Order: sequence, then structure tokens, then C-alpha cells
Amino acid sequence: MSSIRLGIVGLGRLGKIHAMNIAKHIPGATLTAACSIVEEELEFATNKLGVEETYLTYEEMVNSPNLDAVCIVSPSGFHTEQIRLAMEKGLHVFCEKPIGLEIADIEKTIEIIESHPDQVFQLGFMRRYDESYQYAKEMVDSGELGELTVIRCYGIDPSSGLESFVKFAGASNSGGLFADMSIHDIDLVRWFSNKEVKRVWAIGKNAAYPELDEVNELETGAAMMQLEDKTIAILVAGRNAVHGYHVETELIGTKGMLRIAAVPEKNLVSVFNEHGVVRPTSQHFPERFQEAFMNEMKEFISCIKEKRQPEVSAFDGLQGTKVAIALQQSIDTNQIVELHN
Ligand code: NAI
Repeated sequence: MSSIRLGIVGLGRLGKIHAMNIAKHIPGATLTAACSIVEEELEFATNKLGVEETYLTYEEMVNSPNLDAVCIVSPSGFHTEQIRLAMEKGLHVFCEKPIGLEIADIEKTIEIIESHPDQVFQLGFMRRYDESYQYAKEMVDSGELGELTVIRCYGIDPSSGLESFVKFAGASNSGGLFADMSIHDIDLVRWFSNKEVKRVWAIGKNAAYPELDEVNELETGAAMMQLEDKTIAILVAGRNAVHGYHVETELIGTKGMLRIAAVPEKNLVSVFNEHGVVRPTSQHFPERFQEAFMNEMKEFISCIKEKRQPEVSAFDGLQGTKVAIALQQSIDTNQIVELHN
């Protein structure tokens, strides 16, 4: 089969990474088109990645006769509409998380995805494609940990990004801390347990940047969740990790427990100096999940070539967003929120 021709929308923080991967590192894929509202980003695509077609509007890009698939990396509020347009044009779709920010809108989008079963749809829950998470998943599935009782997840962005987040908070709707950050952890909880979330309680605190209160955003949030079989899930989400990018997961079962990235190590180096023994830490998501971003895109291309759907589905996106919305509701009302799945 000839190379799969992709068009990408969004060339920001993550879009550039997907674009570079598709253009340079994913066998069997070609980055044919790019769309952004920022001219310099389109120049980058042309000059650095050799992209042949560039567009200032998504509608024009999906009308190109030279595409097989799109990669959606635009702000979260655009995802559902862009998925629908691509599906209706007969294109395969890879879309970043979250699938959408509103339940009715996501449900309408899933109907359209399901009415095009021959087109591949994949959502960007890349942690499922990380080697350490896959190793842990195999252990859980083979019963090595026994029955899961607690899943604890930390997802804390580096404080280096907090100032610009504070500056731009409100300009683009992130969906709030839980839809933006914890969505990956919510997906991991569902993936590891094979269970849905039934009940949540969430709280938060703004300390380093109290001005986030004014734009209704959280610097740090935490949640206690009960799954349908009473498994306990604890989430901590934040935007203020001074040591770097902290994504940690713990699984406790009846026969043992494991931790993934308990210390978010950058590499195998230990520095012995006046501070003691220092372990360098990973500084941002592109560094920590570099391989996972490539693995998920390879899987997308394989699915198109092999005419099959990936494991991570639009339904996973819907369920994740439902939980994220419940968490935000719990913050807003200071109540425990029940989910009816
Ligand atoms: P960003 O703000 O850095 O970039 C957004 C890009 O979209 C820019 O190139 C902008 O020009 C373009 N854009 C904005 N409006 C547009 C429109 N109407 N039409 C076409 N292009 C438009 O955003 P970032 O951080 O790259 O996030 C993009 C998406 O990726 C979000 O949905 C976010 O949730 C997701 N994301 C996922 C991550 C993961 O771990 N899987 C990590 C970071 C982001």
C-alpha cells in the first residue's frame, strides 16, 4: 500500500511534535498538508518539514483531494466539529485528547464516527502506548497484582509553564484542570481496572497564583473516586511541579503493588555534588512521552493499512470527559457527584 497522506490541524506545543513525527519518523506516512491560524507555523511546516499544502482554515484543508487522514491537534473546543467534518469527507481521524468538552456534542460525534466504520478513529491517549504503562498493564491483566484495590495517579505540569498559563488562561478554553490534565489519569484508571467510575469528590487550591481564582482555573486539584466494583482511585492534578514534569501512577492489588515513575527520572544519571545525590528529572511532556507519541501514531497508520480499529476508542473519550465534568461539578458545588454510565 502506498504512503498514507495526512493533514494536520494545529501546529502549537503538541502539533509541532506530531507534525515532525509524521514527516520524519513514522514509516508509511507522509505529512501532505498543514493548517494553522498562525502564518509562521505554516512557514515552519513548508520550510522545515517539506509540507506541500498549507491552509489557514480547516474546511479548506479537508477539501484537499490529496489526503487520506487528518491529525487534529487544535484547541480542545474545536475537536468534535473537526472530527465530524473529516469523517464526512471520508478521511481517517487521529484526534488529540479530550475528544470534546460537552457530552451531547461528543455523543453526536460518536454517532457520526460509528456511521463510518471503515474509517479509522483514534484518540490521543498516548500513555497507553508508553512502554512502562504497557508493562504494568500486562502485569495487571495476568493477575500478578491480584485484585486492584487502589489506583493513585499524579499528573503535575512543570511550574515553568505556569506563568504563561496564568497569562493566557481564559483566552482558550482548556475545559478546566480535570478535563485538561486528569483526563489521561482518568483513562488510565478505566484502562487498568476495566471498570467505570461511579462516584467522585474533588477539591482544589490556588496558592502560588491566587489570581487563577478569578478565571475559574485551578493550580492544584485532587479527587477521590469510587469505581463500580468499589476500587478506590485517587487523582492529584497540578500545574506547579518545581522539579519538572511529574506523572506518577501507583497500583495496589491484593497480591502486590507497583509504581510507574515514582521519581520522574530523565535518564540513568546520578549527580554527586554539594546538593547531595541528584537525579535529573524529565522537564516536559514531549520529553517524557516522546516514544509514546511515536508509538500511537505508528498504531494509527497500521490500523489504516490493516483495516482495523485501535484499542482506544471514541467511547473511551466520552467516558473520560464524563468523569472530568463530574470532577469539575464537584469542585463547583462542593458535593460528591454520582455518575450514571
Ligand atoms: P497550542 O495552543 O499550543 O496550539 C494550538 C494550535 O491550533 C496552534 O497552531 C493554532 O494556530 C491552532 N489553531 C487554533 N485555532 C485554530 C483554528 N480555528 N483552526 C486551525 N488551527 C487553529 O495548543 P496545544 O498545547 O498544542 O494543544 C492542542 C491540543 O492538544 C489540545 O486539545 C490539548 O488538550 C492537546 N494536548 C495533548 C497532550 C497530550 O499529552 N496528549 C499534551 C498537550 C496538548
